[in-house]
Amino acid sequence: MCGIVGYIGSRQSTDVLLDGLSKLEYRGYDSAGVALCVNDEIRVVKAQGRLAVLAEKLNGMPPMASHCGIGHTRWATHGAPSDVNSHPHCAARVSLVHNGIIENYAQLKEHLMKRGYEFCSETDTEVLVKLLDHNYHGEPLDAILRTLEQVRGSYGLAILFKDFPGQIFSVRKESPLIVGYGAGENFLASDIPALLRYTRDYAVLEEGEIAVLSADKIDVYDAFGHPVQKQHLTADWDIGAAEKGGYPHFMLKEIHEQPEALRATVNPRVQDGLPALGVPGLTDEYLAGVENIHIVACGTAMHAGMVGKTAIERIARVPVYVDIASEFRYRDPVLGKNDLVVIISQSGETLDTLAALKLARERGAKTLAVVNVVGSSIARAADWVLYTYAGPEIAVASTKAYSVQMAVLYLFALRLALARGAQDECIVRHLTVELQRVPELLRPILKDCDNIKYLASQFMNSDHLFFMGRGFDYALSLEGSLKLKEISYVHSEAYAAGELKHGTISLIVEGTPVVALATQDSVYEKTISNVKEVKTRGGRVILLCKQDAKVPADAADHVVRLPEFEGVFMPLLLIVPLQLFAYYMSVLRGCDVDKPRNLAKSVTVE
Ligand code: F6R
Repeated sequence: MCGIVGYIGSRQSTDVLLDGLSKLEYRGYDSAGVALCVNDEIRVVKAQGRLAVLAEKLNGMPPMASHCGIGHTRWATHGAPSDVNSHPHCAARVSLVHNGIIENYAQLKEHLMKRGYEFCSETDTEVLVKLLDHNYHGEPLDAILRTLEQVRGSYGLAILFKDFPGQIFSVRKESPLIVGYGAGENFLASDIPALLRYTRDYAVLEEGEIAVLSADKIDVYDAFGHPVQKQHLTADWDIGAAEKGGYPHFMLKEIHEQPEALRATVNPRVQDGLPALGVPGLTDEYLAGVENIHIVACGTAMHAGMVGKTAIERIARVPVYVDIASEFRYRDPVLGKNDLVVIISQSGETLDTLAALKLARERGAKTLAVVNVVGSSIARAADWVLYTYAGPEIAVASTKAYSVQMAVLYLFALRLALARGAQDECIVRHLTVELQRVPELLRPILKDCDNIKYLASQFMNSDHLFFMGRGFDYALSLEGSLKLKEISYVHSEAYAAGELKHGTISLIVEGTPVVALATQDSVYEKTISNVKEVKTRGGRVILLCKQDAKVPADAADHVVRLPEFEGVFMPLLLIVPLQLFAYYMSVLRGCDVDKPRNLAKSVTVE
């Protein structure tokens, strides 16, 4: 939440800052702003609304030559979106941008008001900048260290001191920040896509570290002010991955990237026809001794975990419990020493998920992270990591990251089954080959966009919509429903098909739209009976099933058929029409597909 950029070098800083912010807008888009060093002054320009509003405001101003500056795109926590609550916030000698929450801001504000400070915004960040100003006596590092001793909460900060116009100061706790190394120029950002156009050479700031950027060097200090040597990393993401590449929206592009993302994630982990996780320490001996698995994540990643649970229990016969991270961390979970906690996160920065991981470690459980962003906080904090290779996911609604999370969980289930002797090797071999066929099976489904668009046009004016299914299809119902409501603002609920008659069926009246998922042979007839119960009460049904499924004549208004395939892997195919349906509903309803209201991609607050 909230995106931060910083630039110092010979380029016009507004160009780099606006470009960097455009790559981070997925982190928040309520408002945006920049602080620029212009001669001996710090000039601040900020505006409520999308980045384009800020760009227009800057365009309408007399040109300002500036080669050092910081920028911010906001997802509001304290204080509604408005010009005055936008970042940067300023005091007499300091300007800063902030990602995170200062929990004790109310006490600090009172303390500062008694000392004559006045406040114009409702934000916690303004308290921080005034506290820094109060603690500043000519030495920026001292002021930062003293200030951080007084604040409680999370922060990623980029700071300009009026007396030091050639330097950017930065510090982080719980909110991600990276520094990028250029030739005669240096960069700061919340995430890699903001840097890709300028440099691939970067380092991740650790908890409590302070970076001081000048044009020719970046000095980093630990939380006590001692110098630290940073390990340089190389970003291998394709720069085109952070562009739309001819698609009207990132979401559509990312839906179409799923075959490639699956290939990149699965194929390197297959050796001699068998799954090989390739993680040192995550041995078959260890896997054979695991008693319970807890999968912990948020939102879409948690839905991938639900698919993982069914797959692991079915294939490897190990009990799996799935938890929402924000529940897990506060419910005093029971964890045995032979339990494995699997943490799933695209960004690797979700605060609740990270906290759940830390709790699991404190309780003595081993932790395995399934993460997309290399070097992210969750990746670094876990005992083991299985990376998903989706490349950057920019659209707020997660699509390709979900598919590769499922794929990694399938590979894990297969290896676990092998390690424990839960399946014959020939069955594991067969399933591994089938898993590798998914990308080719997705091609015809992705070509069927027009049919799904037509269906969306038939349902675009609905106020409510239900999804239902059993087993894997129930897990997919949850994800299909989340995708739809988050980007099209149509209210939607997902139900286990057999559960509908225990209350919710009273909501089904003439014309109520229901998306029924029936891809599992073992429960196909049961689901069809539930679909008929809905039809009898007037429901308008879209049924998604396998190619050869026998659909009774009166069971559905529309039928979407998917290729015949292993039931256990059907989620990897079924998700695509659900994503496309949500996408076209959003487009047809005129919503902002990639940046739905009130949301941000990386949720670094509780
Ligand atoms: C929905 C979506 C969110 C994320 C959730 C967790 O489309 O993207 O529900 O899945 O915020 O994010 P990560 O995976 O980054 O931990």
